Amino acid sequence: MGRRALPRQKTAADLSDHYYEIEALPAKWNIQGLFRSDNPLEIELGSGKGLFLNRAAVENPTRNFIGLEIRKKYALYSAIRLERVGIANAVIFQGDGLLFCNKYIPTATVHAVHVYFPDPWWKQKHHKRRVLNAGFMGDVVRILEPQGKLYFWTDVRDYFDATLELISQFDELIGPRDVQEHQPEFDMDYRTHFERRTRKHNESVYRSEFVRANT
Ligand SMILES: C[S@@+](CC[C@H](N)C(=O)[O-])C[C@H]1O[C@@H](n2cnc3c(N)ncnc32)[C@H](O)[C@@H]1O
Repeated sequence: MGRRALPRQKTAADLSDHYYEIEALPAKWNIQGLFRSDNPLEIELGSGKGLFLNRAAVENPTRNFIGLEIRKKYALYSAIRLERVGIANAVIFQGDGLLFCNKYIPTATVHAVHVYFPDPWWKQKHHKRRVLNAGFMGDVVRILEPQGKLYFWTDVRDYFDATLELISQFDELIGPRDVQEHQPEFDMDYRTHFERRTRKHNESVYRSEFVRANT
């Protein structure tokens, strides 16, 4: 499925509370002080147009959310929406989310990691570009706090199977747990834009959820 063009938006808004560029962060940048509270932190890798981030932040005001999005136009789109709604517990970092997790997220500080519909990189020779790789999984295990959760959903069966196989090599991650399909009650009542599109095309969604063991 191709991507739909983003609607035009005004970018004159002050996004300084919601938008950051990973490449511009100082080497010793520290996450302390990013949010107004020390509430549990959740991270989404590959936020796209930010549906999950927006809704999760509004529905969970006692948690903080970081969205990581490499494509600037999508990162800006999400940030503008966060700013417009006045959401104080979610921000977007534009750039390589893998690098961000590896370099800037301290050990055992994350309550949940979300990865929804990552780019499939269909060709075998491109599989190494998939974000759910051994290096990132090592970081997921490192940054999740005990009992922290990993959510991974995709519409690509082969990516799903290969990733579950990869995750099975990490004894610290318990799962996969069954995830029930939610019946939408309104038009945008989906986890992400890609979930919405996939289900509207009557295609399958494969969902998994893991829990970080205490040790
Ligand atoms: C197929 S889209 C899915 C977007 C969204 N999660 C959804 O389900 O609607 C995958 C997104 O991951 C982003 N992405 C790919 N590699 C990334 C990386 N290394 N760091 C951050 N974002 C990345 C892409 O730019 C794209 O927006």
